[in-house]
Amino acid sequence: MWAETVAVTGAGSGIGRAVLLAAAARGARVAALDVDEAAASAAALAALELGASEAVPVACDVSSEPSVVTAFDAVAAAVGDPGAVFANAGIEVNAPVHSFPVSSWERVVAVNLVGVFLTCREALRRLVATGRGGSVVCTSSPAAFVGHSGGGNSAYAASKGGVSAFVRSAALDYAPHGIRVNAVVPGATDTAMLTAGVASGARDAELDRIRAAATTQIPLGRLGRPDEVAAAVLWLLSEESSYVTGSHLVCDGGLMA
Ligand code: NAI
Repeated sequence: MWAETVAVTGAGSGIGRAVLLAAAARGARVAALDVDEAAASAAALAALELGASEAVPVACDVSSEPSVVTAFDAVAAAVGDPGAVFANAGIEVNAPVHSFPVSSWERVVAVNLVGVFLTCREALRRLVATGRGGSVVCTSSPAAFVGHSGGGNSAYAASKGGVSAFVRSAALDYAPHGIRVNAVVPGATDTAMLTAGVASGARDAELDRIRAAATTQIPLGRLGRPDEVAAAVLWLLSEESSYVTGSHLVCDGGLMA
């Protein structure tokens, strides 16, 4: 059984786009939420071409309360209240703790953690009102569980640690409503995020370096593909995982094994 309507944040790129398209291929009505409106529109168009019953792009900055509230209103008006929601939008900014600008630290937390809270708040409010249960999946990271030396990863790790704790707590709060809340933990996945912050001319070289490191550091010997993470997320969003809540589904090529 499959939720009829699926909303995805960060749907314009990478893992979010792959989940949107995988849901579309199952014939769902899909809503592509992203701060990048052009990317959301392109993803919604691709979703329609893949078989979505309906697909709507929605401009949404997950770090902004009014933006998220307005976006969920727009989703409801266009395709109906979603029964499955993927709270996925995220950014990564790295710097050593001793020189991390507080504004950048706060921005990472605002998008990755407050953004997940705001997305889930709107989703859960509506799911409770329908009384039909539902599924919410949030995107965590290995950074929530293990350190990453030399990466300047403190803000990102703290935000994702917060997401993981949030998921466990929210799962307990909403289990009585038949609403499941889970997390996916993607390992190093081949998306734009891997080279975010790298000057455009140096991106190919940086990707080559990351891919080479992956062959030695990741037990499966390669980066993950967005569609591989999407398969895990689709399972959590669907009724196939009907007895799973408060869980983390690790999809990392064995990185944390
Ligand atoms: P990506 O950079 O390809 O996609 C992120 C999407 O989020 C973009 O479309 C971007 O426009 C959107 N976005 C950024 N800020 C936003 C905001 N304030 N409001 C709404 N949308 C916003 O990155 P990727 O890899 O697909 O990342 C998706 C999630 O997966 C993130 O939460 C990331 O932290 C997480 N993740 C990624 C890993 C990787 O290796 N790529 C590993 C572990 C977790």
